[in-house]
Amino acid sequence: MSEYPSKIKTRKYFIAAILLFIVQMLLGLVMSVMFLARDSSTNLPLTFDILKALHLNLMVLWLLLGFIGGLYYLLPVEAGRDILHPHLIDIQFWFLLLIGIGIIFSEIFFTGRNWWLVEGREYLEAGRLWDILLTVGLLSVVYNVLATILESKNKLSSPILVLAAGAIGSILMYVPGEIWFDSIVAAEYFRWWVVHYWVEASFELIAAGVIALILLAMTQVRREIIEKYLAIEVALILLTGIIGQGHHYYWIGTPDFWIFLGGLFSALEPVPLFLMVWSAYIDLKENKKPIPNKVVLYMIIGATIGNFVGAGLWGFIHTLPQINFFTHGTQITSSHAHFATPGTYLLLVIGIAYLAIPEISGRWNFSQYRGKIGFWLLVIGFMNMIIALLIAGIIQVYQQRVEGLSFMSVQNTLLPYFEWRLIGGLIAFAGGLLIAYDLILISIIKVNST
Ligand code: HEM
Ligand SMILES: [Fe+2]
Repeated sequence: MSEYPSKIKTRKYFIAAILLFIVQMLLGLVMSVMFLARDSSTNLPLTFDILKALHLNLMVLWLLLGFIGGLYYLLPVEAGRDILHPHLIDIQFWFLLLIGIGIIFSEIFFTGRNWWLVEGREYLEAGRLWDILLTVGLLSVVYNVLATILESKNKLSSPILVLAAGAIGSILMYVPGEIWFDSIVAAEYFRWWVVHYWVEASFELIAAGVIALILLAMTQVRREIIEKYLAIEVALILLTGIIGQGHHYYWIGTPDFWIFLGGLFSALEPVPLFLMVWSAYIDLKENKKPIPNKVVLYMIIGATIGNFVGAGLWGFIHTLPQINFFTHGTQITSSHAHFATPGTYLLLVIGIAYLAIPEISGRWNFSQYRGKIGFWLLVIGFMNMIIALLIAGIIQVYQQRVEGLSFMSVQNTLLPYFEWRLIGGLIAFAGGLLIAYDLILISIIKVNST
């Protein structure tokens, strides 16, 4: 079917990613109910802290699977050759999935008991054993990608280099989180290397590269235009994102100069994200060719806008130290997190899945209405959550940090907003289910055509 047979191996990455996303959402819904029930004696087998860890780690897992699947899917066309070691694509998938299952089981049964299995710090809950295995698995992906690029007949294109740099950066930035420190300040200092340098540097590079490659694959926009914007975006992402790290260093015991550096550079972070919206706009305007796969288009435009508004603007509102002094660690953070992460990376992963799965399954003219409805349900659901959490956050900041009311009495006032958040979550969940169903349907009712 395709001149690059290994593409078919990436299908399982996308299907696994979307299914894990569904589980992540389900756990989020359970937590939202717990927020309302407020009774720790609910007979659920999992406590809130474990659910929260699972919610975050499942996200990391499906993101990695989605990105790796995307990398393997997009690379051959750019490199002008198939992946050098196709069998590694399968082995790596099962290896990473097993590690993921190991992490999940460890969190359910060993939280607080064995730090080889569960380490405990937020986002870095996976224990040392899993850290090491994960690094090995990811390094082997980098090897396969670099080996393919080096054997490539084509001149290396900048989107693929940006994508590869993002992938390598993500792995390198995982390592600082594995070093052990007795000082909690040092431990937090390096924990943020993983979280911030992932979402605001290396993953952003992956996003910029993937958006450029998808536009190249789907449109007839001139390559020079796409590559010109990409170069400026990348320079700005690195300039603002690297020192923008300072917005996590205001209140954790690091030197005072971070207040100035973090404030200044992170306030500039929306600039490259705006440039991504702008360049996508210019690219699509210049395009002469009709785009038949509208679902991918929805997801890519959604991701560019979600990135600019959710990461850029929602990040900007609380990134200055004068404001963050009041908003730090409140529902405002949660509002931003639920805008930036799904708004950027979820839509991107679903977008690549909708590009890849119909092609792999030979179903070019799949029916698009489920994908479109799924997209809008996700948007409406998440927007409801985001606005509910934003209002809850503003009330919380005012009552708790300005008026000085106690944490718990403020939580009482926030209950209606947590109900609203649950409704938004249910709508988004319906969208996720529809998309998962659709993608599975497209991939199983395949190929009588080719
Ligand atoms: C797609 C890119 C982004 C993603 C996925 C993202 C995601 C997140 C997440 C998950 C957190 C919560 C961390 C925690 O649990 O404490 C967070 C915190 C934060 N983000 Fe972002 N973010 C992105 C971009 C940005 C940008 C561009 C800015 C600034 C303009 C920003 C500003 C902040 C700030 C200031 C915090 C700390 C809030 C606090 O704890 O007081 N973020 N982000
Ligand atoms: Fe950050």
